[in-house]
Amino acid sequence: MQAYAPVQNSLVDRFGRQVNYLRLSITDRCDFRCVYCMNDNPTFLAREDVLSLEEYARLVKVFVELGVAKVRITGGEPLVRKNAMRLFEALGQLPGLNELVLTTNGSQLEQHAKALKQAGVIRINISLDSLDATRFRRITRVGDLAKVLRGIAAAKQAGFANIKLNSLLMRGINDDEAVDLAAFAIANELDISFIEEMPLGAMPHARQDSYVSNDQTLGVLRARYDLIASTANTGGPARYWQVPNKKSKIGFISPHSHNFCEACNRLRISCQGELHLCLGQEQSVDLRPLLRGYPEDDGPLKQAILASMQLKPKGHDFDISRASPAVIRFMSHTGG
Ligand code: 5AD
Ligand code: SF4
Repeated sequence: MQAYAPVQNSLVDRFGRQVNYLRLSITDRCDFRCVYCMNDNPTFLAREDVLSLEEYARLVKVFVELGVAKVRITGGEPLVRKNAMRLFEALGQLPGLNELVLTTNGSQLEQHAKALKQAGVIRINISLDSLDATRFRRITRVGDLAKVLRGIAAAKQAGFANIKLNSLLMRGINDDEAVDLAAFAIANELDISFIEEMPLGAMPHARQDSYVSNDQTLGVLRARYDLIASTANTGGPARYWQVPNKKSKIGFISPHSHNFCEACNRLRISCQGELHLCLGQEQSVDLRPLLRGYPEDDGPLKQAILASMQLKPKGHDFDISRASPAVIRFMSHTGG
């Protein structure tokens, strides 16, 4: 990779976008095998290739010193990482980190929700694609819906103010569940976002056969609810609608039908310490050699991170009609 001299001491890219949000994957492993995310027999990284919890904490500290104020812990399934709670506890104490949030499949929340809240996690996103146990099993291949529903209940009980469900609809599998999923969110005072399937990693199914556009989902929901366009912005790519007289917002994350790259404020770090500048492009910078080569000196790490801003691409390049995926790595690797 060519080294670029950083232009300034903050995370601003060539297009003037300020980066203040980091998504950090702490494992590529997962206890589910969702059909849009993994093959049924995935190969996971060897443990020595994955960073230690201390290394993640150090990375986050460095990014916060460079202006990042929000960190989302993702995976794989972050809560299957051994001792993950120790990392949440450490990050919860970090000055300058205003928002520590988590994306999870909910399978372990029953045990961990309370401790996550105590550690300082302020928001949780929980994936939920179906309310039918058989379908839920079909989509996740191994997941237990009842356990996830207990996890959602535990998160509510722990007092998280903002819990958001993430639902991915697939044609012919669960695309008739938009209203049921929204009704579940509304009844439980949760927010919900519908996510369009992204072509990450090669899959046995053709993405254009399973793809459901959010415009279609929005149409179905508007026929049922008088949705009001919301100005709410949680710093992410979702567009929100308010359900009248209810606490819930309904969001749409639409990488295909609405390009949101213009306002991109984020970077991703894989569980191996690769800094990815865009979910939909291959550009990355390997931070692991700098972490390990300079255990006492954050200088080289900071320089590399600042220099990487020159590599952040203008936007993603998803095209579901293409036979091969735009990006070969899977979501579980880079972090969802
Ligand atoms: N496209 C869109 N979303 C995906 N996720 C996993 N793989 C994909 C994909 N190919 C989402 C899941 C989950 C979140 C962690 O990542 O739906 O909600
Ligand atoms: Fe696991 Fe999430 Fe991938 Fe499903 S989408 S297999 S829960 S990482």
